[in-house]
Amino acid sequence: MSTTPPASRRLLVVILCALALALSCSRGIAAVSSVAGDDAAFLRCLWAAVPQRLVHTRGSPSYAAALVSSVRNLRFVAPGTPTPLAIVAAAEASHAQAAVRCGRRHGVRVRARSGGHDYEGLSYMSLDRRERFAVLDLAALREVRVDAERAEAWVGSGATLGELYYAVGAASRTLAFPAGICPTVGVGGHISGGGFGTLMRQYGLAADNVLDAVLVDADGQLLNRTTMGEDLFWAIRGGGGESFGVVLSWKLRLIRVPETVTVFTIRRARNQSATDLITKWQEISPSLPGDIILRVVVQSHHAQFESLFLGRCSRLARLMRARFPELGMTQSDCEEITWVQSTVYFAFYSSSEPLELLLDRGTKPDRYFKAKSDYVQEPIPSHIWESTWAWLEEHDAGLLILDPYGGEMARVSPAATPFPHRKGNLYNLQYYSFWFEHGAGTLEKHLSWVKGLYNVMGPYVSKNPRTGYVNYRDIDLGRNEIEGNVTSYTKGRIWGEKYFKGNFERLAAVKAMVDPDDFFRNEQSIPPLPAAKGWSSI
Ligand code: FDA
Repeated sequence: MSTTPPASRRLLVVILCALALALSCSRGIAAVSSVAGDDAAFLRCLWAAVPQRLVHTRGSPSYAAALVSSVRNLRFVAPGTPTPLAIVAAAEASHAQAAVRCGRRHGVRVRARSGGHDYEGLSYMSLDRRERFAVLDLAALREVRVDAERAEAWVGSGATLGELYYAVGAASRTLAFPAGICPTVGVGGHISGGGFGTLMRQYGLAADNVLDAVLVDADGQLLNRTTMGEDLFWAIRGGGGESFGVVLSWKLRLIRVPETVTVFTIRRARNQSATDLITKWQEISPSLPGDIILRVVVQSHHAQFESLFLGRCSRLARLMRARFPELGMTQSDCEEITWVQSTVYFAFYSSSEPLELLLDRGTKPDRYFKAKSDYVQEPIPSHIWESTWAWLEEHDAGLLILDPYGGEMARVSPAATPFPHRKGNLYNLQYYSFWFEHGAGTLEKHLSWVKGLYNVMGPYVSKNPRTGYVNYRDIDLGRNEIEGNVTSYTKGRIWGEKYFKGNFERLAAVKAMVDPDDFFRNEQSIPPLPAAKGWSSI
């Protein structure tokens, strides 16, 4: 039988293809005709370079699902939230380049979104109703390539931490990557802001372990470490997402861990001396050896001590007996598992859950939340901890998360990356409120709880400035204002020095160098340093 279609069938195929093309174009034209002038030009520009099925416009049936696909916070999908003109679901680098070039040409800003976990929703919504913007969604750019022999990996920004951990664990039982705890967090935003987790005390931040990156700059060009230069490479490793370009992928240094690591979780109630334990913990945990982390989550009536140790249970139990006997940890509290199982353990509080849970990205938000953060440099007195119980008991939906620094975190110079919270910081303190219900007064109740507790803690945390962690973005710290056509440096310093301290000025100088027109902009993006100020080392 011949495989060549007869001429009549070939003609039919050609006609059907032409019809399909005409139909898809006419859908595009219909959608374009319903949007304003420049917006339509932007969409036409996009469609010349990106397949239409990857561009979700307000009129298309796929738009709502595409918008919420990686959103974590219900607060920012409430009716009335300003939405993007389009969501561009990039499937290759050229799509991201086209989004930037078309956006620049037609005055549509591009907000990059990797995992959508931004605490203030800035990767997919704007607080300015007049802003014309599109979301550049990178979720499809999530390949992870591990080179176990060289202990390196390339990871697409759209991968989640869970996908990265799964791939590293599948390649080797003795390789790991030091990054955050929640597996659905996106690699793109996380590394851009620093990224800390259970391995930070031995290996530092995720951003400390980046070897190279591929970035789309404000001209739509693809750059790597060599072509972007060391100033820009410095800025993207902790200077916060969005400001300098869109990072498409990162080359990571993987770290070596023992085949067996140990975890434990010990819960102590308020009436079981939890206050004394937290008070003591503040002095002990930042000075423990780097291969152990002991963090605390405090909620309503109890404090939960959670630990990962890069070694066996017997050694850990000896160490805890010697350094923190009051906790009463014994070998029966331990579980010995692999590092990748420990990532499941910290996410789901059980090591027996399947590793495949790490691959579950989720498809829509399930809760509302608001958080704020502080750095603690002197132990907070016991009577203050005692008084926080009243706050926590009043509000079942509130948590305090205490992540100890010290170890490698204190050894890295505060100027090595934009993340300045190194030596001298005992721990990061996060105030977190989450809720599921909506209705009159609910939002205000939760916001005022977080703000109230944050205010009460003011005298006991870092000062001048009172610092916070950019990945725990907090819009209350300040919001950009536009002067002329660009973001005001003077106004930006108000929030910027809280996240970046002395590194803010260098970040602004890099911004002036790589994006002087301030195309990559959001409510807390780095402003360009005004020319008059200059900056000597650039
Ligand atoms: P998202 O896509 O929302 O982006 C965040 C910001 O980065 C936005 O401004 C965005 O425009 C920009 N951006 C995103 N991708 C970019 C790219 N490819 N190039 C340039 N800019 C980009 N942090 C931590 O250090 N340790 C932890 O354990 C946790 N745990 C945690 C749990 C939960 C439930 C949440 C919601 C968050 C955390 N975080 C955290 C905070 C987390 O690191 C922070 O929210 C990250 O910015 C999230 O990155 P995403 O890519 O998911 O966010």
